[in-house]
Amino acid sequence: MKILVINGSPKGEYSNSLKLTKSFLAGMNEENVTTYHLAQLDVQSCRGCFSCWKNTPGKCVISDDTSIILSELIMADVVIWSFPLYYFSVPGILKNFIDRQLPLILPFMEEQSNGKGSGSHFSRYEHRKSRHVLISTCGFYSAADNYDAVISMFDHFCGNGNHTDIFCGQGELFGVPQLSKRTNEYLEIVNRAGAEFVNGAISDATQTDLQQLLYPKDIFEKMADASWGIAKEDGTKIDKSLSFTQQMAALYNKNSYDGKDRVLEICYTDTDKTYQIWLAGDGSRVITENFKEYTTRIETPFTVWQDISAGKITGGAALIQHKYRVSGDFDIMIKWDDFFGGGASGEVFDRKTNMRILLMPWIVIWVGIAINPVWGSAAGIIAAAVIPFCWLQYEATIFEYISVLAVSGISLVSLLGGDPRLLIALSYALFGSMWFITAFLKTPLTAYYSSSNYGGKHALDNPLFVQTNRILTACWGVLYLLTPIWTWFLLGTSISYLTGAFNSILPLLMGIFTVWFQKWYPAKVAGE
Ligand SMILES: Cc1cc2nc3c(=O)[nH]c(=O)nc-3n(C[C@H](O)[C@H](O)[C@H](O)COP(=O)(O)O)c2cc1C
Repeated sequence: MKILVINGSPKGEYSNSLKLTKSFLAGMNEENVTTYHLAQLDVQSCRGCFSCWKNTPGKCVISDDTSIILSELIMADVVIWSFPLYYFSVPGILKNFIDRQLPLILPFMEEQSNGKGSGSHFSRYEHRKSRHVLISTCGFYSAADNYDAVISMFDHFCGNGNHTDIFCGQGELFGVPQLSKRTNEYLEIVNRAGAEFVNGAISDATQTDLQQLLYPKDIFEKMADASWGIAKEDGTKIDKSLSFTQQMAALYNKNSYDGKDRVLEICYTDTDKTYQIWLAGDGSRVITENFKEYTTRIETPFTVWQDISAGKITGGAALIQHKYRVSGDFDIMIKWDDFFGGGASGEVFDRKTNMRILLMPWIVIWVGIAINPVWGSAAGIIAAAVIPFCWLQYEATIFEYISVLAVSGISLVSLLGGDPRLLIALSYALFGSMWFITAFLKTPLTAYYSSSNYGGKHALDNPLFVQTNRILTACWGVLYLLTPIWTWFLLGTSISYLTGAFNSILPLLMGIFTVWFQKWYPAKVAGE
């Protein structure tokens, strides 16, 4: 299959629209692709002399790069027109090229058979029956209703509706690295569209996904307005760090509001500017004077904050390297993506993990076998069997698979007459080892579970989050590795049936410590 891409963006390779086109091509997975960046070529405007019709039929008098593209155009199976929307139409360089197609058609008037009225011309060459794809981004929040002129023009020269369209609003966001999580989601859909197109047509489901907004209208417009670096009131230039702060404020997702107003104070240490962002239930507001009492204060060089937003370094990594300081409530830093994720429509949130699923079968055998080995073991097997049903709602972790196997195995051995005292002690040791070992792996056990409360899986990329969890996982591991020692002795006494209850007190205290440590430790590191 021969594919021709005509990139009509004056930005050439740096075009937002071309990013979509590249994803579409990746989805098509075809090798024979030729791309022409009109901005880098000499494509002059048509002189209207009609020489290509009367003096030199089929040949234009202008000698430039157009003829090469035209020769490819008549051979292409698929032509992808990639361009930005300019004044509700195509950019001038693309219009020039479109006009220069004149040598490809014959001058004679023909009836238009596609219901478009006004007459038409037949092709001069035996064209391949090309399929046309229009891929375009525009600057407004939505593509809807912006493309009437474009659709009408292509209807006329490709045939009515004889083109597949991918039009996307908020196009400039494709060039903003800190929003790439969201824009990449959209590019994935475009990729899927490419795969479907090459096998027939883009499905209705994908078409619907392609219509979705990158960000809700109000957030996008606030962000776009702030991005120009000029005051809305009088059009004068404003301080760079203020414009930056305004863009950050625009990204505030008011759905993350938990009933508590927060004031985030940002002090840019290198430019000596301080601004506050007031985060309330109905949106955010930037405060430049008459400051309020802050909830959280960040002291940072502006350059560091810019690097973070440009994706050159993650916020967590910069914090652990002490490139900025945080004082006050640290909560907002941990839930940063929830607060400043922009409430993007269509955002795919991870399924949550649930620590109770991991603990449940173990607690059943610890308590159950200590009271009655037969019934306790039977309960252990049932508890392990219930877990796969929990995975229908919650994300499974490797530790739950291990637990299902371990608890079922221990319960079976116990049912077959294994020594309950030994089995319970062994089960604590097994459980403790599972925790302790992961404290030395890339992702410690508690991080899998607490990430659900801290913005999902990408919390695992935050080194401070992982470090906090590493310490906690090690503490829990040590606790459960020591537990078999006193458990063994307790089970040899007349109050052995109380072992399970007794062994719940220490984890309870450890639980209280965990809740405190999760807040205290990151705040301590951030304040250093
Ligand atoms: C001269 C000019 C005219 C534009 N006209 C429109 C327009 O009519 N409607 C719109 O939504 N965006 C308009 N835009 C915004 C672009 O379509 C938008 O920035 C697009 O994402 C750029 O895509 P590109 O990076 O592929 O060139 C215009 C931009 C320029 C520079």
